[in-house]
Amino acid sequence: MKLIFLGPPGAGKGTISQRITEDLGVVQISTGDLLREAVKAGSELGKQAKGYMDAGELVPDQLVIDLLKERIAKPDCEEGFILDGFPRTIPQAEALDQAGVKVDRVVNFVLEDQLIIRRLSGRRIDKVTGKIYNVNPEGEPQPPAGTPAEALLQRDDDKPEAIANRLVVYRQQTEPLIAFYKGKGILADINAGQDLEGIVRDAENAIRS
Ligand code: AP5
Ligand code: MG
Repeated sequence: MKLIFLGPPGAGKGTISQRITEDLGVVQISTGDLLREAVKAGSELGKQAKGYMDAGELVPDQLVIDLLKERIAKPDCEEGFILDGFPRTIPQAEALDQAGVKVDRVVNFVLEDQLIIRRLSGRRIDKVTGKIYNVNPEGEPQPPAGTPAEALLQRDDDKPEAIANRLVVYRQQTEPLIAFYKGKGILADINAGQDLEGIVRDAENAIRS
């Protein structure tokens, strides 16, 4: 099964991927996570990507396309994958087609800007496991009771200026993919403004239908 999770920053693509990959027997491929690993490792790619990421801009297509192709060629992708945050532009989607990747379903996470900003400002990541949490009172999932603040990190691009730019970039460069995949008849919208259980249910229904 080859799936794409599409949607604005903070809509829950990563959180839902972490919840359902095991059930579906597929792996999660987050280009954002791969790029953050490259930055952390100080590789040539990481050096090229960092400035774009911190400003909330997209990393140039060719860098991300090469990274993605290398990742999906690995053996753990044979049973299928969720592309979380790729493609983000029409040229990226065309590159996927040209690479012969036949996508079964595109799940489009729909969420209003006010909730996006709220969720991103409360997001925290476990430094060791990479698990995504939210420290807002209504956020899900909450970090386990007793987790010290030092065990969690806040992403560099979850600062107000970068968040605002990520939303603009999403509308301009990524939203056109909704029409692109609607045209192929494989897009399913889901309401990302519900609680996690509701979204997991709707996402699994969309994938299995
Ligand atoms: P990336 O890491 O992909 O970031 P993003 O698309 O901005 O999306 P996020 O990861 O911020 O949001 P999400 O939808 O995964 O939300 P999450 O599940 O964490 O990309 C980062 C950067 O890398 C880009 O800006 C770009 O520079 C570069 N990049 C990456 N891919 C690229 C590409 N293909 N081309 C070019 N550049 C690329 O949830 C958010 C928060 O909400 C969490 O705290 C979570 O706990 C909470 N939450 C989730 N669901 C709920 C709920 N139902 N109720 C309450 N709280 C919830
Ligand atoms: Mg994510």
